[in-house]
Amino acid sequence: MLDLVNLTKRYHDLTAVDHLNLHLAPGEIFGFIGPNGAGKTTTIKMLATLLRPTEGDALVDGVSVVAKPEQVRSLIGYMPDNFGVYDDVKVWEYLDFFASAYRIPREQRSSLIGDVLALTDLRIKRDAFVEELSRGMKQRLCLAKTLLHDPPLLLLDEPASGLDPRARIEMRELLKQLRRTGKTILISSHILSELADFCTTVGIIEAGRLVASGSVEEIIQQTGLTRTLELRITAGLERVETVLREVEMVRDVVVDADAGTCAVSFAGELDDVADLLKMLLDDGVRVVQAMESASDLEGLFMRVTRGQVA
Ligand SMILES: Nc1ncnc2c1ncn2[C@@H]1O[C@H](COP(=O)(O)OP(=O)(O)OP(=O)(O)O)[C@@H](O)[C@H]1O
Ligand SMILES: [Mg+2]
Repeated sequence: MLDLVNLTKRYHDLTAVDHLNLHLAPGEIFGFIGPNGAGKTTTIKMLATLLRPTEGDALVDGVSVVAKPEQVRSLIGYMPDNFGVYDDVKVWEYLDFFASAYRIPREQRSSLIGDVLALTDLRIKRDAFVEELSRGMKQRLCLAKTLLHDPPLLLLDEPASGLDPRARIEMRELLKQLRRTGKTILISSHILSELADFCTTVGIIEAGRLVASGSVEEIIQQTGLTRTLELRITAGLERVETVLREVEMVRDVVVDADAGTCAVSFAGELDDVADLLKMLLDDGVRVVQAMESASDLEGLFMRVTRGQVA
């Protein structure tokens, strides 16, 4: 559905996007993750045909953004990181304007607008002025706009930025709904944990280069990073270190005797956790709780992106 071939953008002597290569299959949900200034917006703008690549190309369903930008526009729904202000425009007028820009026949527009408003939960705001909407509502309206022409590929540049926790959850639910419609989605964020369980694959960009890509599982493998498992143990805590030190994939064991917990860093897959636990239980260590440390994904992100931009 989307192929990036050595996609590059230079601003004077700054290379904002540096020979990106990427392949997205239909239905894939790709999380495009990177710190501020990494080149996410620049990449997405090139895909949205708003910026011309300095070098390389991107193909949307086989159509080149360089050679056929007009044709690409009908295939994509683009949600920018910040969108313009529209004074004196009502919600339905805003959508009607874009629907006509997408050359949707007048007689179809009204029911179509009803559909996208229902999907984004904005029906009650149909006759409100755009400037009266809250930020979260504006963001949903913008998403509604990208869906009007039913494009197979959505390019969403930080759709959840600036939203409160509830609005973020609502935005996620909305995106999950879109995922079920079979659309291919590229979504950017600087928070890996926010996208990890939602995306089929993720790519981490830093200083214009893709430093890792694949499933979260594959990235952990590629980069040789470790996972951290937090264990809660009611008896046998003193034996944990001896047992686990024998295991090749275990990198570190930190025991907190007072709390009755233990943090195990290991370089394996999630599935290997079962083997580690079996070993402990067989040795009489009473493990009552085991979970992957939530801060792990943040740590992964910090280690993969070594602060090159800063
Ligand atoms: N119009 C421009 N002219 C010159 N440099 C630019 C321009 N737009 C972006 N840049 C530079 O390109 C680099 C990438 O910026 P970009 O906006 O793509 O980053 P980003 O990953 O989207 O960051 P953020 O998370 O802050 O949105 C930055 O160093 C930025 O300063
Ligand atoms: Mg950006």
